[in-house]
Amino acid sequence: MMEDIEKVRALFEKEINAADNLNELDRIRVRYLGKKGSITLLTRSLSRVPAEQRPALGQKINELKNAAGSMLEEKKEQLKSRAYSTRWDKERIDVTLPGSPYGLGRKHPITRVLEEIEEIFTGMGFQVAEGPDVELDYYNFEALNIPREHPARDMQDSYYIDEDVLLRTHTSPVQIRSMQEQAPRLPVRIIAPGKVYRRDDDVTHSPMFHQVEGLLVDKGISLADLKGTLLLFAQEMFGKKREIRLRPSFFPFTEPSAEVDISCIICDGRGCRVCKETGWLEILGSGMVHPRVLKMSGYDPEKVTGYAFGMGVERIAMLKYGVDDIRLFFTNDLRMLKQL
Ligand code: DAH
Repeated sequence: MMEDIEKVRALFEKEINAADNLNELDRIRVRYLGKKGSITLLTRSLSRVPAEQRPALGQKINELKNAAGSMLEEKKEQLKSRAYSTRWDKERIDVTLPGSPYGLGRKHPITRVLEEIEEIFTGMGFQVAEGPDVELDYYNFEALNIPREHPARDMQDSYYIDEDVLLRTHTSPVQIRSMQEQAPRLPVRIIAPGKVYRRDDDVTHSPMFHQVEGLLVDKGISLADLKGTLLLFAQEMFGKKREIRLRPSFFPFTEPSAEVDISCIICDGRGCRVCKETGWLEILGSGMVHPRVLKMSGYDPEKVTGYAFGMGVERIAMLKYGVDDIRLFFTNDLRMLKQL
């Protein structure tokens, strides 16, 4: 019996030393200490030995059982910490690997066109002026010679906030704000880029879009100054070959008023689908500032004159980039934005 105990101990020690993972260790535990494990069976076989040998043998077996238990625990800790350190070995950081690149952003095509327009006019001495998107009816209509009940208010389906406040329908109120701010000093020479809002939504209209307003007030300003300035603008924006023409039109805040066309940038005036065979593309509204508008904002129409114009930025961007649906600018589909 004593020999059996020593054999089991030797075998157990051999196996536990060879074990190299936690699953195997558990199998060893079952083989020796489980219900039918070798050490458990030794205890059971005690009943078959003579009574006087039992205490000594029992003590030996107990010692083996305790020793086996603590060896298993010890080995378990060893294997666990080894598993941990090999994982860190594998995860060592390779500092020579290239870093992950940042995605570079880009400017929205409308922003780029706006900046280009601003650059052209500031190069001619205009200053950039700003006004609020949420505007008083007074600046948006009244002071621009569009009184209440005037039919021209219907042309611009407005978003009203209350009776006297609305989202501006055009950038023209900035003309008024600029004149009232600096009257009676001359010249007033500003452009006003910004967002405008109308209750409109189709392939060529968006409920929010951008305009650039222009205003020049000084002594002796004439329609010829307007035409020269706009020709220069058209050529800088769309190429040296561009020509412009003024067509009589009507705006309550200018007299006379004109719509300005540029020779078609696609066919150079020969006639194509984009210009609907006319050879011309309409790009803005303009005119000589109405005497009542000058007067309401602190300038004497007997002594000074001025011209004004307003253009739609999306319209210009659509022409420049060949985009035929204005909504593409605002759905922010990167596949489209990246192309421009
Ligand atoms: N405000 C006009 C519009 O939104 C555009 C315009 C026309 C502006 C003539 C002007 C102008 O300054 O003189 O349709």
